[in-house]
Amino acid sequence: MNAFEILDGIYYAGVNDRVTSLFEGLWPLPYGVSYNAYVVKGDKTALMDSVNISMVNHLLTLLGTERIDYLVVHHMEPDHSGAIPELCHKFPEMKIVCNAKAAQMIRGFYGVDCPDRFITVKEGDTLDLGGGKLLRFYMTPMVHWPETMMTWMEDQRLLFSGDAFGSFGAVDGNPLDTISTDWSIRKMEMRRYYAAIVAKYSRPVQAALAKLKGLPVEYIASTHGPVWHERASQVVKIYDEMSSGKTRQGVVIAYGSMYGNTSAVAEIAARRLEERGIREIRVYDAGRADLSRILADIWKYKGLLIASPTYSMNIFPPVEALVKALEVRELKDRVTGVFGSYAWASAAARLLTERLTAMGLPPVSTVSMQLAMNDETAAEVKNLADMMADKILSSEA
Ligand code: FEO
Repeated sequence: MNAFEILDGIYYAGVNDRVTSLFEGLWPLPYGVSYNAYVVKGDKTALMDSVNISMVNHLLTLLGTERIDYLVVHHMEPDHSGAIPELCHKFPEMKIVCNAKAAQMIRGFYGVDCPDRFITVKEGDTLDLGGGKLLRFYMTPMVHWPETMMTWMEDQRLLFSGDAFGSFGAVDGNPLDTISTDWSIRKMEMRRYYAAIVAKYSRPVQAALAKLKGLPVEYIASTHGPVWHERASQVVKIYDEMSSGKTRQGVVIAYGSMYGNTSAVAEIAARRLEERGIREIRVYDAGRADLSRILADIWKYKGLLIASPTYSMNIFPPVEALVKALEVRELKDRVTGVFGSYAWASAAARLLTERLTAMGLPPVSTVSMQLAMNDETAAEVKNLADMMADKILSSEA
């Protein structure tokens, strides 16, 4: 076997994908992505998850001549389950250990329909591989699909967490975070992964965190990114913050602009917020910035100012896409402000205000501008920034 030994008898068999440019066909991968599988060797050997179908040969190379007795399936999204048919072919005696929902998906996705193959597990069930390797299964539905589950190894204090605590970004060299992780990049890639992929399921994430609270976790082996060890508690804290809606006293300004009139407003607001004591300000042109990057910062900061021109009596399309993403992910508990511009008929300011209000995030103020900036509009924008700053600075950080 060519996999990397993390702990005695536990191996990292993940593969790096530096070719795919968009995860799920949507989200940019500037640093690639890893699909993490693991091998646990006791008297019997278990493979924990598999990899994307495009990387199946890499996985088989890592496994070498190793015989696999069990495949434990934590999650059925094809980036982790794509190799199942090939593994079934290569290991005709291999049992698939999963819950009932996953078994149904394996049949549906891959036509694997042999009842003898499956060992169906539920909350608290165990599988003893011998040699001190005991797997205990926890059901964690909707982190990120309904069939998701995790595996806990008490003696090793290691949690196989599925997508939870995962991050974009390939694994450079040693998969343990102690050695090869550039933390500033990794942290952003983890926040971006959470905001893009998991944020809609924040409540199930909180339920899973509550369930795992008492476990003395020292290693977190997720399906994407490094194995967390040194930073395990830090990573759990970040996940807890993102899923519980805890935010910092900062502001994201996300605007769309065709000819620079709306972007000028964003600059005025950003300067005013800084003058009023907001130290963390992130300004994004929604037409150019990666949506997942904007979402990652919106999930980090208390304040959100959205600015859009009116476009064919609607919100400017890239800003509309952002608002839709916030609605889908059920953003909560933010201090918001709205700015809308128009040339001859106003719509964006009203529509943005209505959409945010419907989400339970009514703006502290809405400013509307016809054509271009003048002193009166600048004063209104500064007043909007003042109101946001006051509210954010008086909130709990
Ligand atoms: Fe990495 Fe939800 O799959």
